[in-house]
Amino acid sequence: MLRSVRDMDVTNKRVLVRADFNVPLKGGEVADDWRIRATVPTIQHLIERGAKVILMSHLGRPRGKVVDELRLDPVAKRLSELLGKPVKKLNECIGSDVEAAIAQMQPGDVILLENVRFHDGEEKNDSEFARQLASLADLYVNDAFGAAHRAHASVHAITQFLPSAAGLLMEKEVENLSRLLEAPQHPFVAALGGVKVSDKIGVIRNLMKRVDTLLIGGAMAYTFFRAQGLQTGRSLVEEDKIELAKQLLDEAEQSGVKLLLPTDVVVADRDAENATAKVVPSDQIPEDMMGMDIGPSTREQYAAMIREAATVFWNGPMGRFEFAIFSEGTKAITQALAECKGVTVVGGGETAAAAIQFGIADKVTHVSTGGGAALEFLEGRELPGVEVLRA
Ligand code: 3PG
Repeated sequence: MLRSVRDMDVTNKRVLVRADFNVPLKGGEVADDWRIRATVPTIQHLIERGAKVILMSHLGRPRGKVVDELRLDPVAKRLSELLGKPVKKLNECIGSDVEAAIAQMQPGDVILLENVRFHDGEEKNDSEFARQLASLADLYVNDAFGAAHRAHASVHAITQFLPSAAGLLMEKEVENLSRLLEAPQHPFVAALGGVKVSDKIGVIRNLMKRVDTLLIGGAMAYTFFRAQGLQTGRSLVEEDKIELAKQLLDEAEQSGVKLLLPTDVVVADRDAENATAKVVPSDQIPEDMMGMDIGPSTREQYAAMIREAATVFWNGPMGRFEFAIFSEGTKAITQALAECKGVTVVGGGETAAAAIQFGIADKVTHVSTGGGAALEFLEGRELPGVEVLRA
């Protein structure tokens, strides 16, 4: 159980809210506002109850220095449109100018502080920096699930100085991801893709204790093919992880988990939209070609298992979905997820981007706003930013 913003008396209080507004920017504008929209319910909750809402976030990795391109002005502009009210953006996150602006606030007002990573105390989880942030407010709310795996000052150390609670998004994330680890309904299917096995080892091992079936796709599959002695041509392979892939295949067999690999793949002469591509069985990848997506038979098999599952977790694209010619595998997974009647959870990062691209984000139970944070959570690790919010 997390302490909740719903149980806080916020009326007329200065509430410092840590959000994850680490969003892609293009030409000085927010290119994808999904993470901003995800925090709106918490902000509205506070506005409706007459709180003075002071928002803070990181953006990018400025490493303790001011980087003009990583200022949060575009976020304030977009947020103001979403809330339908002004969001005053400050050029600092601590100090006398910030204190003066906050002293002028009325209940229901919203202020956005500058990127907290412009100070090196943030990533060092520095108590003094956290204390300075905390001195601006009466209460602290963390809604930044995407940053909860970071023991940083605005996420972790700050809770030593203010009464703290989880925001509505943070609660929703922890609740939905916990459902996958604690008593999930069966059949439980996990579809894992992406480029590297090494990024997913912890999740594969932890989910192996809980799932009935693991569907493997993406470039990661080629490292597993090599572990089975297959030729993979010019496909991406983590040579130093072939042994590990063998171990994972053994572990799956010992624990009675069905670990499925693609039976056919889309191969191409190059990693480009206008590449020459064809479908081949997995054991016939030509020497001069590379695997770029799962093939039609695999799509059908994986989609059927997902549709019939009671619980599904999906993380990692099945192919190079950014190019239409290699996007069919990922699209098939998203459509099956949308049709599944069970609990369907999608991991963040590029998987969330794919869910949005294929229009299924509102047709699944939950799309996580956390990339690394969602994976670490599902590895079974306690996230520093969550731990400090537990009741
Ligand atoms: C993310 O985008 O995953 C989070 O905002 C965390 O960002 P970071 O990896 O730079 O800490």
